[in-house]
Amino acid sequence: ALPERVKIVEVGPRDGLQNEKSIVPTEAKISLINMLSESGLQVIEATSFVSPKWVPQMADQMEVMKGISRKPGVSYPVLTPNLKGFQAAVKAGAAEVAIFGAASEQFSKKNINCSVDESLQRFDEVMKAAKEAGVPVRGYVSCVVGCPYEGKVAPEKVAHVAKRLYSMGCYEISLGDTIGVGTPGSMTEMLEAVSREVPVSALAVHCHDTYGQALANILVALQMGISVVDSSVAGLGGCPYAQGASGNVATEDVVYMLNGLGIQTGVDLSKLMDAGAFICRTLNRKTSSKVAQATCKL
Ligand code: HMG
Ligand code: MG
Repeated sequence: ALPERVKIVEVGPRDGLQNEKSIVPTEAKISLINMLSESGLQVIEATSFVSPKWVPQMADQMEVMKGISRKPGVSYPVLTPNLKGFQAAVKAGAAEVAIFGAASEQFSKKNINCSVDESLQRFDEVMKAAKEAGVPVRGYVSCVVGCPYEGKVAPEKVAHVAKRLYSMGCYEISLGDTIGVGTPGSMTEMLEAVSREVPVSALAVHCHDTYGQALANILVALQMGISVVDSSVAGLGGCPYAQGASGNVATEDVVYMLNGLGIQTGVDLSKLMDAGAFICRTLNRKTSSKVAQATCKL
Protein backbone atom coordinates (compact mmCIF):
# COMPACT_ATOMS: atom_id res chain seq x y z
CA ALA A 1 0.00 0.00 0.00
CA LEU A 2 1.19 3.51 -0.78
CA PRO A 3 1.84 5.95 2.09
CA GLU A 4 -0.71 8.72 2.64
CA ARG A 5 1.95 11.34 3.15
CA VAL A 6 5.53 11.64 1.96
CA LYS A 7 8.27 13.77 3.49
CA ILE A 8 10.45 15.29 0.81
CA VAL A 9 14.04 16.06 1.75
CA GLU A 10 15.19 18.82 -0.58
CA VAL A 11 18.90 18.39 -1.25
CA GLY A 12 19.38 20.88 -4.12
CA PRO A 13 21.32 23.53 -2.18
CA ARG A 14 23.81 20.87 -1.10
CA ASP A 15 23.84 17.87 -3.46
CA GLY A 16 22.92 20.12 -6.37
CA LEU A 17 25.19 23.07 -5.86
CA GLN A 18 28.23 21.10 -4.61
CA ASN A 19 28.73 20.01 -8.19
CA GLU A 20 28.45 23.32 -10.06
CA LYS A 21 31.61 24.23 -11.96
CA SER A 22 31.62 27.94 -11.21
CA ILE A 23 31.32 29.04 -7.61
CA VAL A 24 27.72 29.94 -6.88
CA PRO A 25 27.48 33.27 -5.02
CA THR A 26 26.55 32.84 -1.35
CA GLU A 27 23.67 35.31 -1.79
CA ALA A 28 22.14 33.11 -4.50
CA LYS A 29 22.37 30.05 -2.27
CA ILE A 30 20.66 31.94 0.54
CA SER A 31 17.89 33.21 -1.76
CA LEU A 32 17.33 29.69 -3.11
CA ILE A 33 17.01 28.22 0.39
CA ASN A 34 14.64 31.00 1.43
CA MET A 35 12.44 30.44 -1.63
CA LEU A 36 12.40 26.69 -0.97
CA SER A 37 11.37 27.41 2.63
CA GLU A 38 8.34 29.30 1.32
CA SER A 39 7.24 26.36 -0.84
CA GLY A 40 6.15 24.22 2.09
CA LEU A 41 9.13 21.84 2.14
CA GLN A 42 9.80 20.55 5.65
CA VAL A 43 13.45 19.62 5.21
CA ILE A 44 16.06 21.53 3.21
CA GLU A 45 19.63 20.26 3.29
CA ALA A 46 21.46 23.55 3.34
CA THR A 47 25.18 22.89 2.89
CA SER A 48 28.01 20.65 4.04
CA PHE A 49 30.81 21.11 6.57
CA VAL A 50 33.43 19.31 4.52
CA SER A 51 36.96 20.30 3.60
CA PRO A 52 37.04 23.28 1.20
CA LYS A 53 40.00 21.59 -0.51
CA TRP A 54 37.77 18.64 -1.36
CA VAL A 55 34.61 20.53 -2.24
CA PRO A 56 35.37 24.24 -2.84
CA GLN A 57 31.74 24.87 -3.73
CA MET A 58 30.66 24.41 -0.08
CA ALA A 59 33.41 26.63 1.42
CA ASP A 60 30.85 29.30 2.39
CA GLN A 61 28.91 26.93 4.66
CA MET A 62 29.14 29.25 7.69
CA GLU A 63 27.84 32.28 5.76
CA VAL A 64 25.00 30.26 4.27
CA MET A 65 23.90 29.01 7.69
CA LYS A 66 24.08 32.51 9.16
CA GLY A 67 22.36 34.11 6.17
CA ILE A 68 19.22 32.04 5.70
CA SER A 69 15.86 32.91 7.25
CA ARG A 70 14.83 29.87 9.21
CA LYS A 71 11.17 29.22 8.86
CA PRO A 72 9.59 27.64 11.95
CA GLY A 73 8.84 23.98 11.36
CA VAL A 74 11.48 23.64 8.63
CA SER A 75 14.71 21.84 9.35
CA TYR A 76 18.01 22.69 7.67
CA PRO A 77 20.35 19.71 8.07
CA VAL A 78 23.99 19.83 6.94
CA LEU A 79 26.53 17.15 6.02
CA THR A 80 29.31 16.44 8.52
CA PRO A 81 31.99 13.86 7.62
CA ASN A 82 33.86 14.02 10.93
CA LEU A 83 34.03 15.64 14.35
CA LYS A 84 35.68 18.76 12.99
CA GLY A 85 32.77 19.24 10.59
CA PHE A 86 30.25 18.54 13.33
CA GLN A 87 31.76 21.12 15.66
CA ALA A 88 31.84 23.75 12.90
CA ALA A 89 28.23 22.94 12.00
CA VAL A 90 27.01 23.39 15.56
CA LYS A 91 28.94 26.64 15.82
CA ALA A 92 27.16 27.85 12.68
CA GLY A 93 23.81 27.05 14.29
CA ALA A 94 22.98 23.74 12.61
CA ALA A 95 20.26 21.92 14.54
CA GLU A 96 20.53 18.70 12.55
CA VAL A 97 23.35 16.93 10.72
CA ALA A 98 23.91 14.01 8.38
CA ILE A 99 26.80 11.58 8.26
CA PHE A 100 27.55 9.93 4.95
CA GLY A 101 29.02 6.52 4.36
CA ALA A 102 29.11 4.16 1.42
CA ALA A 103 28.43 0.54 0.59
CA SER A 104 31.54 0.49 -1.58
CA GLU A 105 35.15 0.66 -0.36
CA GLN A 106 36.51 2.50 -3.36
CA PHE A 107 33.84 5.17 -3.28
CA SER A 108 34.43 5.67 0.43
CA LYS A 109 38.14 6.17 -0.23
CA LYS A 110 37.56 8.61 -3.09
CA ASN A 111 34.79 10.54 -1.34
CA ILE A 112 35.94 10.78 2.28
CA ASN A 113 39.46 9.34 2.09
CA CYS A 114 38.99 6.37 4.39
CA SER A 115 37.70 2.81 4.38
CA VAL A 116 34.10 1.97 5.21
CA ASP A 117 35.12 0.69 8.65
CA GLU A 118 37.20 3.78 9.39
CA SER A 119 34.29 5.96 8.34
CA LEU A 120 31.98 4.16 10.75
CA GLN A 121 34.45 4.86 13.57
CA ARG A 122 34.51 8.56 12.68
CA PHE A 123 30.72 8.60 12.51
CA ASP A 124 30.58 7.05 15.95
CA GLU A 125 32.52 10.04 17.30
CA VAL A 126 30.15 12.42 15.54
CA MET A 127 27.20 10.47 16.91
CA LYS A 128 28.47 10.68 20.48
CA ALA A 129 28.99 14.43 20.21
CA ALA A 130 25.58 14.82 18.57
CA LYS A 131 23.83 12.86 21.32
CA GLU A 132 25.46 15.09 23.94
CA ALA A 133 24.38 18.18 22.04
CA GLY A 134 20.87 16.82 21.37
CA VAL A 135 21.37 17.06 17.61
CA PRO A 136 19.50 14.52 15.46
CA VAL A 137 21.62 12.67 12.91
CA ARG A 138 20.60 11.30 9.54
CA GLY A 139 22.73 8.64 7.87
CA TYR A 140 23.45 8.26 4.18
CA VAL A 141 24.62 5.14 2.41
CA SER A 142 26.02 5.86 -1.05
CA CYS A 143 26.36 3.49 -4.01
CA VAL A 144 23.43 1.33 -2.93
CA VAL A 145 23.10 -0.39 -6.29
CA GLY A 146 26.24 0.53 -8.16
CA CYS A 147 29.62 2.19 -7.68
CA PRO A 148 31.50 4.21 -10.30
CA TYR A 149 34.71 2.33 -9.36
CA GLU A 150 33.52 -1.15 -8.36
CA GLY A 151 30.44 -1.75 -10.48
CA LYS A 152 27.50 -3.66 -9.06
CA VAL A 153 27.13 -3.48 -5.27
CA ALA A 154 25.69 -6.41 -3.33
CA PRO A 155 22.43 -5.68 -1.44
CA GLU A 156 23.95 -7.37 1.66
CA LYS A 157 26.72 -4.76 1.79
CA VAL A 158 24.16 -1.98 1.73
CA ALA A 159 22.10 -3.69 4.43
CA HIS A 160 25.22 -4.06 6.58
CA VAL A 161 26.22 -0.38 6.44
CA ALA A 162 22.60 0.77 6.82
CA LYS A 163 22.22 -1.39 9.91
CA ARG A 164 25.43 -0.04 11.44
CA LEU A 165 24.30 3.55 10.94
CA TYR A 166 20.87 2.80 12.33
CA SER A 167 22.28 0.97 15.35
CA MET A 168 24.57 3.86 16.18
CA GLY A 169 21.53 6.12 16.41
CA CYS A 170 20.72 7.64 13.03
CA TYR A 171 16.97 8.33 13.05
CA GLU A 172 16.74 7.87 9.29
CA ILE A 173 18.85 6.10 6.68
CA SER A 174 18.90 7.56 3.20
CA LEU A 175 19.79 5.03 0.53
CA GLY A 176 21.68 6.77 -2.26
CA ASP A 177 21.78 5.55 -5.81
CA THR A 178 24.70 7.91 -6.32
CA ILE A 179 25.18 7.23 -10.03
CA GLY A 180 21.55 6.56 -10.88
CA VAL A 181 22.07 3.06 -12.29
CA GLY A 182 19.28 1.39 -10.32
CA THR A 183 16.14 0.03 -11.94
CA PRO A 184 12.90 -1.02 -10.23
CA GLY A 185 14.40 -4.53 -10.33
CA SER A 186 17.70 -3.83 -8.57
CA MET A 187 16.10 -1.27 -6.24
CA THR A 188 13.53 -3.80 -5.05
CA GLU A 189 16.22 -6.38 -4.39
CA MET A 190 18.31 -3.87 -2.43
CA LEU A 191 15.33 -2.49 -0.47
CA GLU A 192 14.24 -6.00 0.48
CA ALA A 193 17.70 -6.72 1.90
CA VAL A 194 17.89 -3.43 3.81
CA SER A 195 14.38 -3.68 5.20
CA ARG A 196 15.30 -6.98 6.84
CA GLU A 197 17.79 -4.98 8.99
CA VAL A 198 16.25 -1.51 9.36
CA PRO A 199 12.54 -0.72 9.78
CA VAL A 200 10.99 0.68 6.62
CA SER A 201 9.69 3.65 8.64
CA ALA A 202 13.33 4.74 9.10
CA LEU A 203 14.30 4.50 5.42
CA ALA A 204 14.54 7.13 2.71
CA VAL A 205 15.48 6.85 -0.95
CA HIS A 206 17.91 9.21 -2.66
CA CYS A 207 17.76 8.67 -6.40
CA HIS A 208 19.91 10.28 -9.05
CA ASP A 209 18.37 10.28 -12.50
CA THR A 210 21.38 9.45 -14.68
CA TYR A 211 19.62 6.58 -16.44
CA GLY A 212 16.14 8.09 -16.27
CA GLN A 213 14.98 5.53 -13.71
CA ALA A 214 14.53 7.72 -10.66
CA LEU A 215 10.73 8.15 -10.60
CA ALA A 216 10.18 4.46 -11.30
CA ASN A 217 12.61 3.60 -8.50
CA ILE A 218 10.85 5.97 -6.12
CA LEU A 219 7.51 4.40 -6.97
CA VAL A 220 8.72 0.91 -6.04
CA ALA A 221 10.10 2.32 -2.78
CA LEU A 222 6.70 3.89 -2.00
CA GLN A 223 4.99 0.59 -2.76
CA MET A 224 7.26 -1.03 -0.17
CA GLY A 225 6.11 1.52 2.41
CA ILE A 226 8.98 4.01 2.30
CA SER A 227 7.67 7.52 2.85
CA VAL A 228 10.75 9.74 2.71
CA VAL A 229 12.14 10.84 -0.64
CA ASP A 230 15.22 12.97 -1.34
CA SER A 231 15.16 15.19 -4.41
CA SER A 232 16.68 18.31 -5.81
CA VAL A 233 14.87 21.34 -7.20
CA ALA A 234 15.36 21.65 -10.99
CA GLY A 235 17.19 18.31 -10.81
CA LEU A 236 20.37 20.16 -9.86
CA GLY A 237 23.54 18.33 -9.17
CA GLY A 238 25.59 15.21 -9.28
CA CYS A 239 28.46 14.18 -7.08
CA PRO A 240 32.01 15.50 -7.32
CA TYR A 241 33.38 11.99 -6.66
CA ALA A 242 31.10 10.18 -9.11
CA GLN A 243 31.93 11.44 -12.58
CA GLY A 244 29.06 11.52 -15.02
CA ALA A 245 26.42 11.16 -12.32
CA SER A 246 23.60 13.52 -13.13
CA GLY A 247 21.50 15.34 -10.63
CA ASN A 248 19.00 14.00 -8.17
CA VAL A 249 15.51 13.41 -9.40
CA ALA A 250 13.83 16.83 -9.71
CA THR A 251 11.67 17.81 -6.74
CA GLU A 252 9.07 19.28 -9.11
CA ASP A 253 8.70 15.89 -10.84
CA VAL A 254 8.42 14.02 -7.54
CA VAL A 255 5.75 16.42 -6.28
CA TYR A 256 3.83 16.13 -9.55
CA MET A 257 3.87 12.34 -9.33
CA LEU A 258 2.87 12.32 -5.66
CA ASN A 259 0.04 14.79 -6.36
CA GLY A 260 -1.18 12.45 -9.07
CA LEU A 261 -1.13 9.54 -6.63
CA GLY A 262 -3.11 11.57 -4.08
CA ILE A 263 -0.19 11.51 -1.64
CA GLN A 264 0.22 14.58 0.57
CA THR A 265 3.53 16.46 0.63
CA GLY A 266 2.57 19.92 1.87
CA VAL A 267 4.54 21.39 -1.03
CA ASP A 268 3.12 24.13 -3.26
CA LEU A 269 4.25 23.10 -6.74
CA SER A 270 4.01 26.57 -8.20
CA LYS A 271 6.21 28.13 -5.48
CA LEU A 272 8.64 25.25 -5.88
CA MET A 273 8.81 25.93 -9.63
CA ASP A 274 9.56 29.59 -8.90
CA ALA A 275 12.55 28.49 -6.81
CA GLY A 276 13.70 26.19 -9.63
CA ALA A 277 13.33 28.96 -12.23
CA PHE A 278 15.28 31.33 -9.98
CA ILE A 279 18.29 29.05 -9.54
CA CYS A 280 18.36 28.10 -13.24
CA ARG A 281 18.34 31.81 -14.20
CA THR A 282 21.12 32.50 -11.73
CA LEU A 283 23.27 29.61 -12.92
CA ASN A 284 22.37 30.23 -16.54
CA ARG A 285 21.42 26.61 -17.01
CA LYS A 286 18.40 24.72 -18.27
CA THR A 287 16.19 22.97 -15.74
CA SER A 288 16.37 19.17 -15.61
CA SER A 289 12.80 18.96 -14.32
CA LYS A 290 10.44 17.57 -16.93
CA VAL A 291 7.53 19.24 -15.18
CA ALA A 292 9.27 22.61 -15.33
CA GLN A 293 10.08 22.06 -19.03
CA ALA A 294 6.50 21.21 -19.91
CA THR A 295 4.79 24.11 -21.60
CA CYS A 296 1.32 22.64 -21.44
CA LYS A 297 0.43 23.47 -17.85
CA LEU A 298 -2.36 21.41 -16.37
P1 HMG B 1 41.34 14.21 4.58
O1 HMG B 1 42.23 14.98 3.66
O2 HMG B 1 41.60 12.75 4.76
O3 HMG B 1 41.25 14.88 6.03
O4 HMG B 1 39.85 14.43 4.10
P2 HMG B 1 42.26 15.19 7.13
O5 HMG B 1 41.60 14.92 8.43
O6 HMG B 1 43.60 14.57 6.83
O7 HMG B 1 42.43 16.78 6.98
C1 HMG B 1 42.97 17.39 5.83
C2 HMG B 1 42.65 18.88 5.86
O8 HMG B 1 41.24 19.09 5.79
C3 HMG B 1 43.11 19.56 7.14
O9 HMG B 1 43.38 20.91 6.79
C4 HMG B 1 41.86 19.53 7.98
O10 HMG B 1 41.83 20.53 8.95
C5 HMG B 1 40.78 19.78 6.94
P3 HMG B 1 44.92 21.41 6.54
O11 HMG B 1 45.61 21.08 7.80
O12 HMG B 1 45.40 20.59 5.35
O13 HMG B 1 44.72 22.85 6.23
N1 HMG B 1 39.47 19.24 7.35
C6 HMG B 1 38.32 19.93 7.29
N2 HMG B 1 38.05 21.18 6.91
C7 HMG B 1 36.77 21.58 6.98
N3 HMG B 1 35.76 20.79 7.40
C8 HMG B 1 35.99 19.52 7.77
C9 HMG B 1 37.33 19.06 7.74
N4 HMG B 1 37.88 17.88 8.04
C10 HMG B 1 39.20 17.99 7.80
N5 HMG B 1 34.98 18.75 8.18
C11 HMG B 1 37.51 14.64 4.55
C12 HMG B 1 38.76 13.82 4.77
C13 HMG B 1 36.33 13.82 5.03
C14 HMG B 1 37.61 15.93 5.34
C15 HMG B 1 37.39 14.98 3.02
O14 HMG B 1 37.53 13.80 2.30
C16 HMG B 1 36.10 15.63 2.66
O15 HMG B 1 35.83 16.76 3.05
N6 HMG B 1 35.23 14.94 1.87
C17 HMG B 1 33.93 15.43 1.52
C18 HMG B 1 33.51 14.93 0.19
C19 HMG B 1 32.11 15.41 -0.13
O16 HMG B 1 31.61 16.37 0.39
N7 HMG B 1 31.47 14.70 -1.08
C20 HMG B 1 30.15 15.01 -1.53
C21 HMG B 1 29.10 14.67 -0.52
S1 HMG B 1 28.65 12.94 -0.51
C22 HMG B 1 27.45 12.77 -1.75
O17 HMG B 1 27.27 13.67 -2.51
C23 HMG B 1 26.59 11.54 -1.80
C24 HMG B 1 25.19 11.76 -1.23
O18 HMG B 1 24.52 12.79 -1.94
C25 HMG B 1 24.36 10.49 -1.31
C26 HMG B 1 24.39 9.84 -2.68
O19 HMG B 1 24.05 10.45 -3.67
O20 HMG B 1 24.77 8.67 -2.69
C27 HMG B 1 25.24 12.17 0.23
MG1 MG C 1 23.49 12.47 -3.88
